[in-house]
Amino acid sequence: MPQLNETDREIFPVSAGLSDTGDITIGGCAISELATEFGTPLYIYDEDTIRQMCRQFVGGFKEAYERSHVEYSSKAFANPVLAKIIAEEGLNMDVVTGGELVFAKAAGFPAERLNFHGNNKDRGELGEAIDYGIGRITLDSFYEIGLLNEVAGEKGVRQKVLLRVSPSVDPHTHMLTTTGILDSKFGFSIETGAAAEAVEQAMAADNLEVVGLHFHLGSPIFELEPYSQAIDYVLKFAAEMRDAHGLQLKEFNPGGGFAVGYVGEELPLPISAYANEISTAVRSGCDRYGLEEPLLTVEPGRAIVARAGVAVYKVGGIKRIPNVRIYVSVDGGMGDNIRPALYSSEYTVRRAHDPYSEPTETVTVVGKYCESGDYIARDVDLPVLDSEDILCTPTSGAYAVPMASNYNMTTRPAIVMVKDGNARLIRRRETYDDLLATSLV
Ligand code: LLP
Repeated sequence: MPQLNETDREIFPVSAGLSDTGDITIGGCAISELATEFGTPLYIYDEDTIRQMCRQFVGGFKEAYERSHVEYSSKAFANPVLAKIIAEEGLNMDVVTGGELVFAKAAGFPAERLNFHGNNKDRGELGEAIDYGIGRITLDSFYEIGLLNEVAGEKGVRQKVLLRVSPSVDPHTHMLTTTGILDSKFGFSIETGAAAEAVEQAMAADNLEVVGLHFHLGSPIFELEPYSQAIDYVLKFAAEMRDAHGLQLKEFNPGGGFAVGYVGEELPLPISAYANEISTAVRSGCDRYGLEEPLLTVEPGRAIVARAGVAVYKVGGIKRIPNVRIYVSVDGGMGDNIRPALYSSEYTVRRAHDPYSEPTETVTVVGKYCESGDYIARDVDLPVLDSEDILCTPTSGAYAVPMASNYNMTTRPAIVMVKDGNARLIRRRETYDDLLATSLV
């Protein structure tokens, strides 16, 4: 019985395999057949992987710290079918815009289990969140403190809030996805004194109930030490705020950022390692600064959905530039996955049929967009390809589809969810009519 190689077994969805005919399968469905049925580019999500990741997070953190919640960060992939699975698995969820809130509502996601993040929520969005009965709102600027106090007052609500603080800790990830350093648009800096001022203002606001503090360092984070360093610093700050303003740290949220494996050379630590590091740091910090142990919430986005998703493309033209490079063009690219262009993110690429056949060639897989920076993977070894071969890139479930655009007036891809040999469409492919729908002719 053929099977995926060792690395691919870590990177592809948990239900992936190789059929007798040499086809990569996910959830019992052959990728090539799904490509024929639903067209390409196509995103396939594996339900078993999503549920397994949810359970590993909830179980892993509960084991390390009993009073813990896992909050799925829906920016990684917002979809009503996914949100229902997230709710069923007992996770909370965060949203960062009115649009993400609409998706949560469409899934009937319980309002009390939602947290509204984001660095610039407007009056309308805050009102929509309060109307839905949102559990928590995490405030990120002095403007938001005043605005939410006003909106909550108008609606006759005392809203539970957390304050996002910035601990000036570098998690050693891409500059564009680093959020908790001093030079950042996110959070109230502890170092500058802004965070202390925010605590004082928010606690004095009649219509806000400050239940805790939050920080998020960035993503993906492959190291553990930045978490414990930041946790210690923020707990020390919490103790100072208790003494100065009577802050009770009932809830503490050290964010998300947990890494995933995109390529075999860089696999992440297990979830239990993050869970142990974080809970040990919270416990020892509370002990050190004389705080009661708070309810702990972590916010994985990428780690819940990345491995579940596989992008599928069809090869078009192949250009061989002697002694320079072989360009393999596919029918997607930066319109459905801008991560390589934006962050130089690396992906594994496999041919969906007979993935390991010899001989191989080193090729650069590029998209169909009118940009030289539009690529999926540089210098990857693949079997010698033909036009119309089907390629797939695993670990595409996070931040590809949600960051997709209609650049060059392309239609965004279809998405299917697979399980036990069945595939169901969870988002249809956009049509030319969709492209025209918002333009006034
Ligand atoms: N919590 C907060 C407040 C966040 O800002 C984020 C991500 C998360 C949680 C979830 O982080 P995760 O566990 O997914 O790493 N587009 C970039 C990632 C941007 C992440 C933004 N914030 C990428 O494609 O790598």
